[in-house]
Amino acid sequence: MAVKIYVVLYTTFGHIYKLAQQQLKGVNSVEGVQGILYQVPEILSPDILAKMHAPPKPDVPVLDVHDLPNADGFIFGFPTRYGNMPAQFKAFWDATGSLWQKGSLIGKPVTFFTSTASQGGGQETTIHTALPNVVHHGMIYVPPGYGFGAPMYGLDEVRGGSAWGAGTFAAGDGSRWPSKTELEYAEYQGAYFAKVAKKLGA
Ligand SMILES: Cc1cc2nc3c(=O)[nH]c(=O)nc-3n(C[C@H](O)[C@H](O)[C@H](O)COP(=O)(O)O)c2cc1C
Repeated sequence: MAVKIYVVLYTTFGHIYKLAQQQLKGVNSVEGVQGILYQVPEILSPDILAKMHAPPKPDVPVLDVHDLPNADGFIFGFPTRYGNMPAQFKAFWDATGSLWQKGSLIGKPVTFFTSTASQGGGQETTIHTALPNVVHHGMIYVPPGYGFGAPMYGLDEVRGGSAWGAGTFAAGDGSRWPSKTELEYAEYQGAYFAKVAKKLGA
């Protein structure tokens, strides 16, 4: 039976969705591993979303927390909110109490990717501050580190992402879209994570 990886996203403006599709591509490139794309529920009202000029949600099924134990590993993606995960994703974690009680997620591998408006906008802190959720659930954090290679060290282009996970810069008005390198990094991370999850015998 295939190792099942859920790629779970939250996006307001679509940048994270773009990276999530690349993560999925990476996951599905690994033999014996199957990726499935999900999004977490929106908690803002249609009114507020309209004021934010948010486009319609991507055509991706909404994940029920009770389905989490059916996955062998997770790739979570969300944009920053002041250097932290958005409330939509925190609300999702906050609904996992009964899973925590049963230890349903213990030993499951997890990795993260993110998006910020600007350089220095909080890519590392957004992932770093997500870790307590994972630790309290007893999950195994799998950072991609510098495995992506040369682009991780180069200073010749603007590039989101870090040792903590892939990332993009959306610009303050959302007008910048993931670059070729950022898309490649997201795909790399998906494939790398899938190989680790497979090795763990997840
Ligand atoms: C309430 C709020 C807080 C934000 N805080 C930050 C921030 O601290 N740093 C930053 O670079 N971008 C910040 N942003 C910009 C978002 O991270 C950006 O819109 C997002 O990365 C785009 O991803 P998406 O298209 O998937 O929604 C913030 C946006 C909102 C709405």
